[in-house]
Amino acid sequence: MAKDLVCSCVRRITPYSPGKFSKEVMEELGLTEVHKLASNENPLGPSPKAVEAMREALTEVHVYPDPVCRELTAALAQRLEVCADSIVVGRGSDEIIHMLGLAFVNPGEEVVYSAMPFALYPMTTHICDGVPREVPARGFEHDLAAMADAITDMTKLVIIGNPCNPTGTISRRDEVRWFMDRVPEDVIVLFDEAYFEYVDDPDYPDCLEYVREGRNVVVMRTFSKAYGLAGLRIGYGVAGPCVAEGLKLVRPPFNVATLAQVAALAALDDEAHLRASVDLVHEGRAYLYRELDSMGLTYVPTQANFILLDTGLDSSEVFDALMRRGITVRTGDIFGLPTYIRVSFGTMAQNRLFVAALREVTGR
Ligand SMILES: Cc1ncc(COP(=O)(O)O)c(C=O)c1O
Repeated sequence: MAKDLVCSCVRRITPYSPGKFSKEVMEELGLTEVHKLASNENPLGPSPKAVEAMREALTEVHVYPDPVCRELTAALAQRLEVCADSIVVGRGSDEIIHMLGLAFVNPGEEVVYSAMPFALYPMTTHICDGVPREVPARGFEHDLAAMADAITDMTKLVIIGNPCNPTGTISRRDEVRWFMDRVPEDVIVLFDEAYFEYVDDPDYPDCLEYVREGRNVVVMRTFSKAYGLAGLRIGYGVAGPCVAEGLKLVRPPFNVATLAQVAALAALDDEAHLRASVDLVHEGRAYLYRELDSMGLTYVPTQANFILLDTGLDSSEVFDALMRRGITVRTGDIFGLPTYIRVSFGTMAQNRLFVAALREVTGR
């Protein structure tokens, strides 16, 4: 038998399942249109200002990009009231998680996160030959007390998705402060805020204050969601001084493409597009709550641009039935919730199509 050349720690990775591309579904099922409500993207598309900025930069792509994303970093620093040195830009915020693992997690060290983790948390842990410590959730929320209890002398990193994907729930200011008061100095805390822009709960914490306090934290955000630039792959981390230094050591040279940098900078300045994107999600939320209530289906109230709902049926069958009707979602079985689906909010027309299809599929 041929020798397995893959590292034993990498063998422990459960391959990431990105969901089907719309084109693939159209070809397989002979559909002319597919509405992808599966990956929490922005249904309004990118900011027109970002598209224009990319058009202008197209003739510069023979030159390597700015390795430290100077302009974008300066703009973010000003906006977030942090020093530019604390910001590290990545090829998607995925890359920030990856860089954190590479820079800080030694083989055998532990990474603590809540159950139903975003796929990159266990993946990064295994790549670094770290030890995942998955802490059971409290219902659909992180159990920060249990996560604090799970920290040992071997813990290097704690990851808190806030809002959490796939539940859309948040950890609140007081519980996060309570948690941070208990985290040892030499344990790094990553606040994954990929869905930050959509939150309207007044108890949502400003975790940048921990960066300003000089704590060993990273607040991670992305241009993939509310800014509509998922296909460009750009996100960033705002980190305390020691953490930022480590991240920069492992950042690959020229990791963020020029077009991604100019688009992100322009999108940051497009308040109208951001407002419209966030308002649309809030409108979608209110609409889905009303419709799901009237169908008698339970769901998890969400602070993000997606909703986790209980169909009461086998979620793989619901997934297939929705796909045949031209709508893709995520099944809950990958999160250990076999009757749930996670649905991204689309345009209002897409939300209505989804509701009509769900009523047909569930008979409600
Ligand atoms: C919780 C969470 N974190 C991070 C990411 C990564 O986003 P990106 O790499 O596109 O910035 C995602 C993407 O879906 C996510 O859901």
